[in-house]
Order: sequence, then structure tokens, then C-alpha cells
Amino acid sequence: MELSPRRSTRLLERLLMVALVVALLMIYPAEPASVQVRRRALSVRGLVVCQSCNQVGTDSLAGAKPLNGAQLRLLCKDEASKTSVNVTTRSLKNGSFLFKIPNFFDPKKADPKPICKVFLISSPAPSCKQQTDINSGQSGGALLRPARSTPKTILYSVGPFAFAPDSRCWQVDPTSLALPPSSANTPEPNHP
Ligand SMILES: *[C@@H]1O[C@H](CO)[C@@H](O)[C@H](O)[C@H]1NC(C)=O
Ligand SMILES: *[C@@H]1O[C@H](CO)[C@@H](O)[C@H](O)[C@H]1NC(C)=O
Repeated sequence: MELSPRRSTRLLERLLMVALVVALLMIYPAEPASVQVRRRALSVRGLVVCQSCNQVGTDSLAGAKPLNGAQLRLLCKDEASKTSVNVTTRSLKNGSFLFKIPNFFDPKKADPKPICKVFLISSPAPSCKQQTDINSGQSGGALLRPARSTPKTILYSVGPFAFAPDSRCWQVDPTSLALPPSSANTPEPNHP
């Protein structure tokens, strides 16, 4: 078969093009998903408070105060996607806390919501160190719907969580005020 010079040039061009594509495929094989998919950061924020002594034993946060320096843990575990996080953070003066896990997940593979929980660890306040399970702070608080979502970060909220005083407030018993002063009942200590 005779080829005109022009046709043979075109054929050569096509062959070169094919060779180039093949070469490129060999240099860049189908990219691993981790390179192609941009992983997103996971942020989880919440609030930790000291329950009012008037509410000890209840689930009420009425009168609660922000707790500074409380320690919390974020745990995420997904065997399938080998996602695992175990980190701690501390609350700020206003009681707020934030976990930020960069490059946490590939949104196509793992949804952080069912695999992550936040737990209370400790309170720095001796007068307010009993863990409560308000909003599952003790048993593991679930991530609440994303508060904000960007292509790089997804932000969830949790809580609010609470520590509590050891016992209910000391309350003034009105009848106790009617008791005579103790000195009236006790003998003089300075008897010879
Ligand atoms: C998380 O880390 C703490 C201390 O680093 C460890 O005691 C705990 O067992 C870990 N939890 C899990 C579920 O891996
Ligand atoms: C708490 O304080 C921090 C830093 O001072 C601030 O970024 C955050 O927005 C505050 N959170 C709330 C709930 O006020």
C-alpha cells in the first residue's frame, strides 16, 4: 500500500501521539485516591460548664457557669477506613473548646458523625469535679449536625457538657436560725 507523504506524516503524528499517551499513563498510573481526593479537616466545638449546686442531680444547666481548663477527649474509630483519632483538648475561660484534626477524612469514604464522640476527662476545679452525663458527656457525646462546612473543613458541635459540685448547695434551714446560741447551753469552759 502506497502512502502519500502527507498521509504518512499524519500517521506518524498519530503514532507519536499514542506513544505519548501510553508513556504518560506509565509515568502517572491511575492515581491513588488519597492523592486525588482532597481530605478535609474535622473541627468539633462545644462548651463545658459547672452545673449550679442548686441543680445537682438533675439535667438542668440553669445557672451553670463556664468551666476553664476542663479536659476533653475526641475519639473517632472506623476500622473500615482505618480512621482513628484519640486527642484531648482543654476548655478556655469562657468554657468553649475546640478540636481540630487536619486532613481527617475523605468525605466520600468516611462520615465522622457516626464514628466520633467527645468525652469529659477532668475538671481543674476541686469544687466542681464530678462528671455528669448531661448531653452524654460521660458516655460519649455525639457530633451534632455540621455547624459549618467548607471544602476544606467540616465543623460540628457537641454538648454542652457539665461537671458538677459534689453535692447540692448548702441551704439555710430556717429552723436552725431559731436555735439558741450554742454558748447558752454549754458550761463555762474556764471553771477551775
Ligand atoms: C486514648 O489515649 C489514652 C491515653 O493516651 C489511652 O489511655 C486510651 O486508652 C486511648 N483510647 C482509645 C480508645 O484508644
Ligand atoms: C471563647 O473565647 C475564645 C477565645 O477567647 C473565642 O474564640 C470564642 O469565640 C469564645 N466562645 C464563645 C462561645 O464565646
